[in-house]
Amino acid sequence: DWTMAGFRAAKIEEIREQVGKGRVICGLSGGVDSSVAAVLIHEAIGDQLTCVYVDHGLMRAGESEQVVSLFRNHYNIPLVHVNAEALFLDGLAGVTDPEAKRKFIGKTFIEVFEEEARKIGNVEFLAQGTLYPDVIESVSFTGGPSVTIKSHHNVGGLPERMNMKLVEPLRELFKDEVRLLGRELGLTDAFVGRHPFPGPGLAIRIPGEVTKERCDILRKADAIYLEEIRNAGLYDAIWQAFAVLLPVRTVGVMGDHRTYDSVCGLRAVTSVDGMTADVYPFDPAFLSRVATRIVNEVQGINRVVYDYTSKPPGTIEWE
Ligand code: XMP
Repeated sequence: DWTMAGFRAAKIEEIREQVGKGRVICGLSGGVDSSVAAVLIHEAIGDQLTCVYVDHGLMRAGESEQVVSLFRNHYNIPLVHVNAEALFLDGLAGVTDPEAKRKFIGKTFIEVFEEEARKIGNVEFLAQGTLYPDVIESVSFTGGPSVTIKSHHNVGGLPERMNMKLVEPLRELFKDEVRLLGRELGLTDAFVGRHPFPGPGLAIRIPGEVTKERCDILRKADAIYLEEIRNAGLYDAIWQAFAVLLPVRTVGVMGDHRTYDSVCGLRAVTSVDGMTADVYPFDPAFLSRVATRIVNEVQGINRVVYDYTSKPPGTIEWE
């Protein structure tokens, strides 16, 4: 009989056999897939594994701290935390085109990762949390086989350039199975049930120019929205929910004075695989509560709108 416990044991043997005494490096994104892969590989080969977390400064509130503490303190897995916020934000200055943002972030991510791999030295293997759907849709994640709607960022090309072999223990699994394996490995339900988050992070949720100030405003609004979603018990019924910060200012009134601030968009969708998506039908009272809190608590936002577009024709992310 196939069980997750059996899969775990078999994979551990397989990883040991593949890797021998070699050194493995694994890039953590903060997401479920790379985390589960790292924990499984660490169980197989211990400190022959080093994780590298390239922190581009475009993560949500508190997220980097959570990843670092989970790996260092809870699992005791060697982790290099590269704070590259300034590098990414400097490079993004003046960039407004969505594809230009994605390309810059992808390229810079690889450069930073590569530099860290060199510093660690003698790395023979690169571990990735590639899933089965990634394998069969390797041409384009979102656009079907012939058009690229959005360029996704990963460390493609790096293994050949650095002469590394790939370790991909999740290649046969679907997302729900990765979540089961994560639980089997002791990750909490809250961690394995997290919504997907795109590699380019908040940069593609800030149409127009990305600045530290705008990232900070968005982080606050997003945290309020997700807190309300969790409090309402809706988190697990939603595939993905997030706030976006629009490059549009509108007039409002606060107390007895006029405001002229940014618009915040809210997105929430249900989906099976991210390829198509439906709008999550919130109760209007819920949306009012979130809108009121965001306008009252986040300086820089004075209007909130809800995105009613399904995918297609919209995409889940706004860029
Ligand atoms: P879209 O916006 O194309 O997104 O409907 C579909 C799913 O993919 C996620 N997404 C990304 N994930 N790197 C990722 O790892 C990326 O560059 C990227 N862009 C979009 C998106 O959040 C959604 O879950």
